[in-house]
Amino acid sequence: MAEQRHVALYVTGSIAAYKALVLTRLLVKDGVSVRVVMTKAAEAFVTPLSFQVLSKNAVATDMFAGTDVKAVDHIELADWTDLAVVAPATADIIGKLANGIADDMASLTLMATSAPKLVVPTMNQHMLDNPATARNIATLKQDGISVMTPASGFLAEGYSGRGRMPEPEEIMRAIKDLRPRKTPLTGKKVIVTAGGTRERIDPVRFITNDSSGKMGYAIAEEMQQRGAEVTLISAPTKLKVPAGVKFVSVLTTEDLAEAVTTAFKQTDILVMAAAVADFKPVSSADQKIKKSADNDQMTIKLTKTADILKQVAKLKQPGQITVGFAAETQNLLDNAQHKLVSKQLDLLIANDVSKPGVGFNGDTNQVTILQPDQAPIKTTLADKHTIAKQVVDQISQRVQKEG
Ligand code: PMT
Repeated sequence: MAEQRHVALYVTGSIAAYKALVLTRLLVKDGVSVRVVMTKAAEAFVTPLSFQVLSKNAVATDMFAGTDVKAVDHIELADWTDLAVVAPATADIIGKLANGIADDMASLTLMATSAPKLVVPTMNQHMLDNPATARNIATLKQDGISVMTPASGFLAEGYSGRGRMPEPEEIMRAIKDLRPRKTPLTGKKVIVTAGGTRERIDPVRFITNDSSGKMGYAIAEEMQQRGAEVTLISAPTKLKVPAGVKFVSVLTTEDLAEAVTTAFKQTDILVMAAAVADFKPVSSADQKIKKSADNDQMTIKLTKTADILKQVAKLKQPGQITVGFAAETQNLLDNAQHKLVSKQLDLLIANDVSKPGVGFNGDTNQVTILQPDQAPIKTTLADKHTIAKQVVDQISQRVQKEG
């Protein structure tokens, strides 16, 4: 089961409450389940209905509403929460949180939850600089609560200063940087490879493949969110490195082989999502190969590259987990099963890249997960982040089994 994070978003009374709507959308888009709590003051700026529509969950505003007779509302929500985000956070809610005041649904539930908290102070610069606010923010930090630095810029009051709520995308990054609760992958050293390696023909031409890196990057991000220490070794892509992930850039299969085999000794889990060139030119020309009147055809002699997973199999120690991919256009399961065995893998993620929406380049994939001791698990066609969650779930279960 995917570790779908449960985020409780606390919205308090600030004109920036409208930005919390965007934050809700981004969280939901990221596969997070969101429940919103609003203070009375927040309701003066944005309606609960807007958050209800975006989050697809009822919005909590009243500590005496008692919607479920079998449960105490604020305790149920507090226990459900994996992460509490207070955005925008006024001086008032910061003061309550720092001083243990619980007199409305938001402050009451915040006090009841033991989940990690991220507070996003949002207010006029003078209120931010008020010694009481500064003291309260210092107390939150001492209590182990994460506090974001407010942004600077044009304030609602009509002048520039500090105190603006950071943009929702920035808050998303801060959320991803927060360590999740302990998972089987917490503290595990993980290498993920991604992208298509490049083999030079001459200074201006190379052989490569259609890999965009999206599948590998999604796995690296998912691993990081579950507390793993992730190194992403990537051939060129157009993607942004996920927050909190160490990055190593490579070009050729040889570069990738060296980076992987060097790091493997200190690694708990290797995931080879990179599309590795199986052949490279025997030699690469020093100068651009020119066409001339007498060469209507040209031949490039290719030689096999080293099989990185086979090299790694020789270095593998008990407890280390290796995960390969198989990009096939025919006989998916037979070819994948052969790779699982010949590369001594713990998991093999097979994708039939001849099918629309599967494999290279796009935002979606559909895979079959093979393991030596289990029946294959076939996923539906879904976006690569969802597939990454399903793959990482299986890796996580294997870690637990081996552990
Ligand atoms: O990057 P995207 O656009 O998101 O596309 C995702 C993907 C299609 C690239 C990904 O899902 C995928 O299938 N990656 C593996 C592609 C591949 O090289 O498959 P393969 O069947 O040729 O290789 C089998 C396994 O051996 C792979 O794990 C590969 O990384 C590894 N290999 C291959 C060749 C080689 N010389 N050394 C290797 O270790």
